[in-house]
Amino acid sequence: MADMDGFKEASAYGFDQPQKNEAFFLKGNENRGWGVKNRLARIFNPKSGHTVMLACDHGFIMGPTSGLERVDLTINPLIEYADCLMCTRGILRSVIPPTMSKPICLRSDGGTTILTDLNLNRVYDVEDVVRVNASAMAVMVACGDKASEMITTQNLVHTVDMGEKLGIPVLGVTAVGKDMARDARYFGLATRVCAENGASFVKTYYTEEGFEKVVAQCPVPIVIAGGKKLPEEQALELAYKAIQAGAAGVDMGRNVFQSAKPLAMMKAIAGVVHNGLTPKDAFQLYNDEK
Ligand code: R5P
Repeated sequence: MADMDGFKEASAYGFDQPQKNEAFFLKGNENRGWGVKNRLARIFNPKSGHTVMLACDHGFIMGPTSGLERVDLTINPLIEYADCLMCTRGILRSVIPPTMSKPICLRSDGGTTILTDLNLNRVYDVEDVVRVNASAMAVMVACGDKASEMITTQNLVHTVDMGEKLGIPVLGVTAVGKDMARDARYFGLATRVCAENGASFVKTYYTEEGFEKVVAQCPVPIVIAGGKKLPEEQALELAYKAIQAGAAGVDMGRNVFQSAKPLAMMKAIAGVVHNGLTPKDAFQLYNDEK
């Protein structure tokens, strides 16, 4: 029984300070559960509202991609400079130290590779996502691809259903359909489809024309993939323009791990995404850090 001797009367009721109800900082996620919001707040920096995700999931469709031959040597030293690591469960279990504390966005679907027709994926067992303590599940949707559009949309719907039960947000990943142009109209449609089916945030590609419309019509945050390797200054400019147009961050891979100086590149990208550095200043930072 609790000892009542010396019991101290409660008195700090803060009558003059109403309990705060703070709005959640990420657009379109106000009405989600506490677990989803808490995990999103680990991926996105609540101060800047932005994120630098480090993507290294390429091997699940491409095999030993340049820069990812030895993830332990190339990616592990970069993890502490990222806000979130995006990878497959195979890489996670085999080479990522479980002592690291960054949130994981787990690639949660897999299937066909570059050797056949891409995108005919199936989703992982959600229990495995919980076992590895993932903070988000990434599932690809192939809008406009006749063979895989339906199955990949179902994959997203199923993953969102599981995620809602468990409090785990879902990143909708827009694949590029073979028969559709890679323009703002296409990515506007694809990102919106992901959001409408329940994704908490969406990954897409930057478009020179109309990207602000892609962001505006998507009711949840957008992060951009980097795409193929560009000269460092151009990659920083890509990130800058995407952020200026309203993107909430980047999920970049090749432009980091294929850079001559990946660590300097991580720092320069973070400067753009979190601190609003211009491409010129960020490139200077890259050169200073080289
Ligand atoms: C592709 O398989 C993955 O979804 C990548 O994570 C994504 O494309 C981002 O990587 P990158 O910046 O190299 O395009």
